[in-house]
Amino acid sequence: MSKVTVIGAGNVGATVANVLAHKDIVKEVVLVDIVGDLAKGKSLDTWQQAPIDYYSTSITGTSDYKETANSDIVVITAGIPRKPGMSRDDLISTNANIVTSVVKSILEYSKDPIIIVVSNPLDVMTYAALKASGLNKNKVFGMAGILDTARYRAFLATELNVSPKDIQALLMGGHGDTMVPLPRYTTVAGIPVTEMISEEKLNAIVERTKVGGGELVKLMGTSAWYAPGAAAAQMVESIVKDENRVFPVCAKLEGEYGLNDVFVGVPVKLGKNGIESIIEVKLNKEEMALLNESASAVKSVMDVFDNM
Ligand code: NAI
Ligand code: 2OP
Repeated sequence: MSKVTVIGAGNVGATVANVLAHKDIVKEVVLVDIVGDLAKGKSLDTWQQAPIDYYSTSITGTSDYKETANSDIVVITAGIPRKPGMSRDDLISTNANIVTSVVKSILEYSKDPIIIVVSNPLDVMTYAALKASGLNKNKVFGMAGILDTARYRAFLATELNVSPKDIQALLMGGHGDTMVPLPRYTTVAGIPVTEMISEEKLNAIVERTKVGGGELVKLMGTSAWYAPGAAAAQMVESIVKDENRVFPVCAKLEGEYGLNDVFVGVPVKLGKNGIESIIEVKLNKEEMALLNESASAVKSVMDVFDNM
């Protein structure tokens, strides 16, 4: 795997490209934006960082899809971000048109790429991308779970005064306020988190995680980019290195967890073929009810997209 295209050279796209270049794991990154000079400028800036930070990955910017030819992986970050007071779902009509047209342009020049969707509303944009692409469902999926889990892990690390490296956790469901952090599957270096924190504090962290994206929108006037960019780059890394890392990823479900034809975050193995398999962990009644509620919330926005 040697060529990765990132569509959208805004806050998130430029970060994905920059983090990927630093990982030095692919030969080439192409950054695309309708504002061609923005993509050119940000990629030139990242290339000029190479002699300082020591990487060889070439990075170029363009608005011409010809230059994306034969991409192995495409990360789609094109679209508008949230402003204060907006939900991710408010972005649907603008971003659905953008994501659909981007997918069609990509496929003119790359036959069978893996597509990682980042644009919001994430779960429904992943659906839009899969629909527009006609590709296999293991090749089109979305980034949200790594980010949401990272927020949950970071909040726990602060509260417990431990390294974020040692917090392992699982979070499922849609990328919205109904997401489902799972304390029962959260550990601190293998120790169940419930042994280290009161129920009240843990609940408060779960609730803060669910609105973690909105917290940043309020602080910055637009949505986050460092952690989202790093999260998408981590997915690319697992694919390029065929690592089979286990991450929560937005995937099309066909019967897993008793859910059908809906796109939500579930743990998967990510390898050279994209989603190598979906892992079905055992959920108790309460957790399953929360996952069902989250899937229903996504389904209602999928219906909005279908009726557009
Ligand atoms: P941004 O506004 O900084 O960048 C978006 C870029 O997309 C702009 O440079 C714009 O010119 C470009 N663009 C628009 N239409 C295009 C098209 N047809 N082709 C190519 N480029 C096009 O926005 P930011 O902050 O980078 O966010 C991008 C998207 O990612 C938003 O929808 C945001 O909500 C979403 N997001 C998703 C996250 C997730 O966890 N899945 C996390 C953070 C952001
Ligand atoms: C985030 O969670 C807005 O989806 C974006 O930061």
